[in-house]
Amino acid sequence: MIVVRGGRSLFGRVRAAGAKNAALPAIFASLLTSEPVELLHVPCLRDVETAVELVEALGKEVLWEGGRLVIREAGPLSPRAPEGLVRRMRASFLVLGPLVARLGEAQVPLPGGCAIGTRPVDLHLKGLSALGAELTVRGGWVHARAPRLQGRTVYLDYPSVGATEQLLLAGALADRETVVLNPAREPEVVDLSRLLSAMGAETHWEEDRVTVKGGRELSGASWEVIPDRIEAGTFLLAGAITGGKVRVEGVIPEHLGALLVKLGEAGVGVELGGDWVEVAAKGGLRGVNLETRPYPGFPTDLQPPMVSLLSLARGESLVTETVFEGRFGHVGELLRMGASIRRQGASLLIRGVEGLTGTRTLASDIRAGAALVLAGLVAQGTTYVEGTEHIHRGYENLTEKLRELGAWIWEEGRESSR
Ligand code: UD1
Repeated sequence: MIVVRGGRSLFGRVRAAGAKNAALPAIFASLLTSEPVELLHVPCLRDVETAVELVEALGKEVLWEGGRLVIREAGPLSPRAPEGLVRRMRASFLVLGPLVARLGEAQVPLPGGCAIGTRPVDLHLKGLSALGAELTVRGGWVHARAPRLQGRTVYLDYPSVGATEQLLLAGALADRETVVLNPAREPEVVDLSRLLSAMGAETHWEEDRVTVKGGRELSGASWEVIPDRIEAGTFLLAGAITGGKVRVEGVIPEHLGALLVKLGEAGVGVELGGDWVEVAAKGGLRGVNLETRPYPGFPTDLQPPMVSLLSLARGESLVTETVFEGRFGHVGELLRMGASIRRQGASLLIRGVEGLTGTRTLASDIRAGAALVLAGLVAQGTTYVEGTEHIHRGYENLTEKLRELGAWIWEEGRESSR
C-alpha cells in the first residue's frame, strides 16, 4: 500500500527511466535471432521482469545488471508460451509473431493484462494470417503454423500499437516486404522498427505506412531504449498539480507534445530544452477539453493522471477517451476523494473543486494508480492507495522519485524487486 500525505508542492529534478513500452517489444525482438541482443536503459519494473521470464521460458538466458540486459540463446527455442506469463501481461502476446516467423509454429494463450476494456487481438491475428500464418484459436490458445511467412500489404482498421509491433516483428523474418498501412506511430513503435533495422531488417516509414524488409537471417544488436514519455508526463503532472516546479531530464520533449500543449492551456508554465522539460505553477489551474488519440494525439496512458489535475482546475473540463472504452477505473476513486466528475459514455465532464480529501483508494490498473497517487499529493490528509502491484508493473521507484521531489509518500510492505 502506498501512503501519501497531501499538501507539499514538488520541486526539483528527476530523470526519466527507459520506456517500458519500448523495452518490452525490444526484449521479444531477441527471439528473432540466435545472436545476443544487448539492451540499455531498461527500466527495472514488473512488466520487464515478466518479459524476461517469458523469453527465458522460451529458451533464452538473460543477464540483467542495472539497466542493461543481455539476452542470449541458451538452446533450442520452444514454440509454446507459458500461460501464466502471457495472462499476466498483454504485451506478452507479441511473442506470437517472432515465434511463428522463426520456428514455423507457435502456441500462445490469449492475453490478460490491465482491466481497461475488452482489448481484443483480432488485428494481430488478421495481420499474421495475411502473412500466411495458419491460425486456429482453441481453448483460449492461439496455434499458429507457417513453414515460411510471406511479406504482404496489411491494412490496420485501427492504428493499434500492439498489432503494428506484431507485424513488424513477424515481417522482419518473412520473405520479401511487409507493408503496414495505417500503422501506429507511437515513439515506442518507431523505436522497435529502428532496433529491427539495427538487426538487419530494413524498415522505412512514410506518411501512411511502415515497411519492413525481411528475407534474411537477423543479427544481434546493442540498443538503447528511448526515455519513458508516460513516466515523464506523470512527473510533470505531479509538479503541476502540486503547484510546484519540476524538471524532468533525459526526455525527448517532442514525444510529450500533446501533454505540454494541454498543460499550457491549463495555465501551467512550460519550458523545454534539448533533453528536458520543466513545468512551473503560474497561478491557478484552468479547465481544458481533450480527447485521447493515437500518437501524436493526447496519450490514453496520461488521461487518468490528467483527470486528477483537471479535478482541481477552475471551471469545467471535458475529457473524452477514444482509445480504451473501459479506462475509467480512477473516476470512482476520485469521486470518493471529493472530485466532481460526471461520466457520459466515453466522456467525463469534470467540474473543478477547491480541494480533495484523502481516503482509502484502490488502483485498478497502472495509470489509474498514478492518478490516485497524484490526487493524494494534493489531498487534505492521508490517501492510501492499494493495488500497488499495478503501479509496480509500470513505474520504476515511483514513490522514491516523488519523495526526492519533496513529496510525503512512502510504501508499506514493499517487497524488493530483482
Ligand atoms: C499499447 C501500450 C499501452 C497504451 C496503448 C495505446 C504497450 C505494452 N502498451 O497497448 O500502454 O495504452 O498502446 O497507446 O505498449 N484493439 C483491437 N484489436 C486489436 C488490437 C487492439 O480492437 O487487435 C483495440 C484495443 O482494444 C484498444 C485500441 O485498439 O481499444 C488500442 O489498442 P493498442 O493500440 O493495440 O494498445 P496496446 O498495444 O494493447
